[in-house]
Amino acid sequence: MPIAVNTIPPLRPYVAPPETKADIEYCNLRTIDLSKVESSVESEREEVFNEFKRAISEDGFLYLVNFGLSQEQIDRQFAIAQHALIDGHMTDEEKKDLEWKYLNTGKYTGYKPRGYWDIAKGVKDNVESFNYYSETMCDGPHLPACLRPYIQDIVDFNHLHEYINKLLLKMLSKMLELPEDFLWNEVQSHNGPIGEGYFRQMMFHPTTAERNKAAGNVQMHGHQDYGITTLLLSQPIAALQVLGKDDKWRYVKYKPGGMVVNLGEVLEFISGGHLPATRHRVSGCPPDQSEYYRLTIGLFCAAKNDVSLAPLTQSPLLQREGYVNRFEPGTEGVVDATKIPTAEEWRVARVLRSQTQPEDIVVTNGVRYNKQYFKGIYVLEPV
Ligand SMILES: [Fe+2]
Repeated sequence: MPIAVNTIPPLRPYVAPPETKADIEYCNLRTIDLSKVESSVESEREEVFNEFKRAISEDGFLYLVNFGLSQEQIDRQFAIAQHALIDGHMTDEEKKDLEWKYLNTGKYTGYKPRGYWDIAKGVKDNVESFNYYSETMCDGPHLPACLRPYIQDIVDFNHLHEYINKLLLKMLSKMLELPEDFLWNEVQSHNGPIGEGYFRQMMFHPTTAERNKAAGNVQMHGHQDYGITTLLLSQPIAALQVLGKDDKWRYVKYKPGGMVVNLGEVLEFISGGHLPATRHRVSGCPPDQSEYYRLTIGLFCAAKNDVSLAPLTQSPLLQREGYVNRFEPGTEGVVDATKIPTAEEWRVARVLRSQTQPEDIVVTNGVRYNKQYFKGIYVLEPV
């Protein structure tokens, strides 16, 4: 009997950078133990749902733990990203051939080079990333050679949303007082490993105090994600910040073995504002972490293309407490919306103008917002 030979080359082990010792202000996010969502004990299920509800309504961000990945599996995902983006195994020719062409496609597919976005006057971004969609994830020509041996790990990781996101959407359906599988069955896209969403491996280069100063201490402008849910593996470099209800930016603290979750605009629209998309950004990191690369691994879950962004008026919650239709003439921010867009139309509009330099600044409660026009309405994103 032939002996199976493992031909997958070993990866350089990932070692998480040390946490900062800087005295910075963190947001106090709640932790949801995902393993308890389907507990056989009713009181446990209720307890985790109530905590989730508070996290969504009050913070807009939360930590997930016990979501089905060991620390070893998490570190392997970071090691794969490190292999491609830090260790230099993706060739310059591959970077050129696979460079994303989102202005043609409305999707971020492929390699994003450093220095693509204007962060501030004379300062370009410091970020490289590789982005996978269902249709390209399993297709060799769309991948650099260095990632092909690990594609099964990447596909397996992406299938995680079938477990994690399904449970998140179950609790969000419950918040809307809809049947518990409603959002998973009717809204979440299901084609391929991550539906119409995408998977991103991202690397922020080490930075300097001078660069941070020139960039206004921002590495990625404030924004809302456009999709349903965003699932990020927690990592130690302190830079992700959330804009609180008090209009203050606070850091998201590292949670070893955890995942950071936030909601996107599709959920905000269809929930009539009851499930808000949270504003976040990537700031410069504290000086004691500036020499380290910042790797992030994220799944961006998306709706089916043809889902209408109209509020779900069948929801008893919306019927009882009211709702905002962001595309209804007369609603604040509506300019000339003639039709409610689909999730695909919204996605394409948002992707085509992501991370552009602020054009029209509005200041509210001391926060500067970039006012942009999409599909008939104004969207405010904090700078
Ligand atoms: Fe984001």
